[in-house]
Amino acid sequence: MCGIVGYIGQKDTKKFLIDGLKELEYRGYDSAGIALLGCDSIEVFKAVGKLVNLEDKLNNNSTLNIQNSTFSTGIGHTRWATHGKPTEINAHPHLGNYSFVVHNGIIENYKELKTSLQANGVEFLSQTDTEVIVHLFEKHFEQTNDSAQAFKNTIKELHGAYAILLITKSEQNKIFFAKSGSPMIIGKNSDEMFFASSDAPLIGYANEVIYLEDGDFGEVTQDNISFYNEKKQIWNKLQTSKQLAQKNGFRFFMEKEIYEQSDVASDCMLGRIKDNGTNFDEIENSFFDNIFDIKICACGTSYHAGMVGSYLIERLGKMRCSIEIASEFRYKEPLLLKNTLFVVISQSGETADTLEALKMAKNAGLKTLAVCNVDNSSITRLADVTLLTRAGIEKGVASTKAFSTQTLVLWMLALYIGTKNKALSDTLIQNELHTLRAIPKALKIESIMHEKCKRLSKRYLHGHGFFFIGRDVFYPLALEGALKLKEISYLHAEGYPAGEMKHGPIALADPELFTIALMPQNLLYDKIKSNVEELSARDSTICSISALPFELADDFIQINTTNHYMLEFFEMLVALQLLSQEISIRLGNDVDMPRNLAKSVTVE
Ligand code: M6R
Repeated sequence: MCGIVGYIGQKDTKKFLIDGLKELEYRGYDSAGIALLGCDSIEVFKAVGKLVNLEDKLNNNSTLNIQNSTFSTGIGHTRWATHGKPTEINAHPHLGNYSFVVHNGIIENYKELKTSLQANGVEFLSQTDTEVIVHLFEKHFEQTNDSAQAFKNTIKELHGAYAILLITKSEQNKIFFAKSGSPMIIGKNSDEMFFASSDAPLIGYANEVIYLEDGDFGEVTQDNISFYNEKKQIWNKLQTSKQLAQKNGFRFFMEKEIYEQSDVASDCMLGRIKDNGTNFDEIENSFFDNIFDIKICACGTSYHAGMVGSYLIERLGKMRCSIEIASEFRYKEPLLLKNTLFVVISQSGETADTLEALKMAKNAGLKTLAVCNVDNSSITRLADVTLLTRAGIEKGVASTKAFSTQTLVLWMLALYIGTKNKALSDTLIQNELHTLRAIPKALKIESIMHEKCKRLSKRYLHGHGFFFIGRDVFYPLALEGALKLKEISYLHAEGYPAGEMKHGPIALADPELFTIALMPQNLLYDKIKSNVEELSARDSTICSISALPFELADDFIQINTTNHYMLEFFEMLVALQLLSQEISIRLGNDVDMPRNLAKSVTVE
């Protein structure tokens, strides 16, 4: 996820920007840049890769070193690529003729805006959505000769998510800002104003802060803020712990990432949900010509997301779809046929087995598609098409937000294929789109749910194992729930299709065997109910996760009543993640870095 900083005042602008960007490194990035404004001159520096590359450029610039004190205004950015590769040209700040902009988020209508600006002779340098902002601003400035009005007109035209800072030679002692959907904080000290995407860069610099809300926009000078939306200024004391600030106040990165799922789900869907179906700018119209079936390959959590995808692609896409674990696929001498689309899923884009499977498919001449979180990773560089999940950096070894965004991308892909093949009724398409739009809300965590998981966790610290059971897409969800628990609690847990229990595993049932039963109201409820009854009859301890109370359950985690099984799916996902985390905490384990595991598995 991108990071933003900004400064206006009489101290060392460059130092605050670089120190601030360093504090935001934990958000993940693949390029960085700053722009400095003062005494009629504007300077911009950008570099691909780590911040040290940017620092080298700054240190080697002799003019800057002489003039440093004259730059009283500056903006900086770390970029996590979403539109366009991580190159210097695509790095922020983006420039017009006399203005610079940094942006976090996604401008959904950038294509329309870009086309109209190009028609009026504007030339674009980058492939990013962000660049439209600075050209729009300059267009409006030329029409009004009023920077504030030009900024207001610009913001009015943008759809999507953004935190924006803009500086311009036409108004040298101001920074213009806007926030909708992406985080942004203003900090102040005497005669200085600061901006940052989170608290961490401001600690040690600002005394008080305003946490901007969606719809806030305006301008700052070094000692004043004007909100164009007439917001009341409420200043808060700034916390002092940088470590806590990086985790946004959460105890663990995993917890922060569980809570981030609602926001990253919105980012993941931005621009991809249209009125009549789903759309991926990355996929050309002819991409699915002559494709008769899909093979998905992945490892671990990504494999579980792939399993959910395989159900949805057959159900909604009406296309045959199979899935394999990459490490198995590699050595089975698989039959690879040209009419198969080969899909790989990977958070890191570096998993050795998945990468090798992709190479095999490429060598066999198959079309390939990657669902991945890290642009410019080995997998995205190799695949014909990449659909980025836009989850931002995932630090916790136990994958959480990567799974939810992978599942969303595959669901949107299934709908895309089904719509393209005219296999779905308008009513069904509209119902799916409506449900997709509701997912960010389903992923918002109610404190009562977290409290319940905390309380229940103390009852599940012993025993001889856990069965997580579910049917249909709730079967891969059960697998994912079991994987989360074993990774961070070191307790034995297995995921099972509920209907399979009586074919053997039920022999293990006794009061010390815990069953976590995923019981969706909107999908095969009666079937799973009888499976759970069978386990209860053998005295297994049952914890049901459902909207409906179940009289035989010993414990119950209640989710909201909804009308679509995928809404239940995402609510249950959160419950499973929180329950695992709370059990792990009670056992005194390292939640973010569990024993024996690595975040990225680059060996087979
Ligand atoms: O980066 P990838 O998605 O390719 O990683 C695959 C697995 O190694 C990963 O999902 C692993 O299972 C996680 N630790 C699960 O939480």
